[in-house]
Amino acid sequence: MAQQHEEKEFDGIIQAGNDLPAWYKHIFVYMIVIGVGYAIYFHGFSNWGTEEYYAAQVAEHEEKFPPAKAVVSEDGSNPLRGDSVAISEGEKNYKAVCAACHGLNAEGVVGPSLVDKEWIHGNKDEIVYNLIMKGIGVEQAKLGRGPMPAHENSLGSEKVYQVMAWLASKNDTLQPK
Ligand code: HEC
Repeated sequence: MAQQHEEKEFDGIIQAGNDLPAWYKHIFVYMIVIGVGYAIYFHGFSNWGTEEYYAAQVAEHEEKFPPAKAVVSEDGSNPLRGDSVAISEGEKNYKAVCAACHGLNAEGVVGPSLVDKEWIHGNKDEIVYNLIMKGIGVEQAKLGRGPMPAHENSLGSEKVYQVMAWLASKNDTLQPK
């Protein structure tokens, strides 16, 4: 039941007056109905939103890389001292993170030796822990060989205490208190 429209002529070119085909109009109307329906489904009923997606991604990441466990010391001394698991984990982390500046066996490179008797900032666990966590700024540095980066965020308390447990196992001049 295509409707006939007025035929138009411009400069000898004739535009036929045919109505749009029925299938075309049907698709047009269906698309509007599906579009509205989809918007209602998406916002009201589906869980395809970016917030849910983000939360799922975070959960997946945290499962793969659990957030570092916080180890708290009561009196400033390293609670992981003498713990054999901590010592071997600490050695791995030391070699990955500290060795570039302090030498593979802590003998010292740009950073000072950590296996000799000299502790230029002090030889107590609490002092050493704070140095490693917070780093040594240029103004605090005593050797004039530059600052030391903080490891609070990259390692966190548990791994820092593990590294210190390894250091203490190699150097008995590092004292608990
Ligand atoms: C980018 C180089 C660099 C890295 C990486 C680094 N340090 Fe240091 N560290 C230094 C420097 C330089 C000093 C000396 C600062 C000064 O002049 O007082 C230092 C000093 C120290 C001291 C004090 C030593 C003393 O005699 O009092 C300790 C302890 C220490 N670092 C441990 C670590 C540990 C553990 C790591 C790894 C988690 C680490 N450092 C990573 C450069 C580094």
